[in-house]
Amino acid sequence: MHCVKIDVCFSINEYTQPRYLGYSAVVIDVLRATTSIATALHNGCMRLIPVETVEQAIKLKHDRYQDALLAGERKGQLIPGFNLGNSPYEYTKEVVLDKTIIMTTTNGTLALSKARNAEKVFTASFVNADAVARKLYEESRDIVVLCAGTEGRFSLEDALCAGLLAERLTDRAWLSDSAMAAQAMYRDFRCDLVKKISASSHAQYLFSIGYGDDVAFSMEHDAYSVVPQFREGQITA
Ligand code: MLT
Repeated sequence: MHCVKIDVCFSINEYTQPRYLGYSAVVIDVLRATTSIATALHNGCMRLIPVETVEQAIKLKHDRYQDALLAGERKGQLIPGFNLGNSPYEYTKEVVLDKTIIMTTTNGTLALSKARNAEKVFTASFVNADAVARKLYEESRDIVVLCAGTEGRFSLEDALCAGLLAERLTDRAWLSDSAMAAQAMYRDFRCDLVKKISASSHAQYLFSIGYGDDVAFSMEHDAYSVVPQFREGQITA
């Protein structure tokens, strides 16, 4: 491939569509939306439909997808009346095989909505980073990694996963300043990743509400070979 550019937006506020015309976008929300999305697709989910609000999710199920599972979180917790929360442990084969899942999360689905008009849109997490990096390599298109962050702010775990993608593509890509910073951070923290990310604010919050196990789960590198792609409103493998 020709030497492509890789840029990282550490928060959704840095992303504007005109700035990244012609780029592939990779949305990352390690804790936990893009980890759960990869897990669901790995376990045979037919498609995930991300929407921004709880009301949109309920209406879409009612109008078009009566058999769909409603999934997601608010403040990290199961939304009343929904089938699934946002813990990757919930997205087992028994639950998701051949299912349509309508998902709304606080930051992850918002980031997807921001990126939706990019040339191609993928989602990544530590659990499928290598597969996504390979796909990006094949695509041979400039890349913007969009970290979902937390309410428009920097999140350590998303930045580190962006750094892992930069690391995997470093021989084949020209890294922007932010991509170099993400890569340096990843190199510095990788030996102690679970401990470092466990100290981050969202991980601490997940521990406090009983979802601490999701943190180590989400740090596992390359557990899946699935490449989630978001097109025409749906994420499929
Ligand atoms: C989000 O989209 O904000 C997250 O995935 C929150 C979470 O479930 O931990």
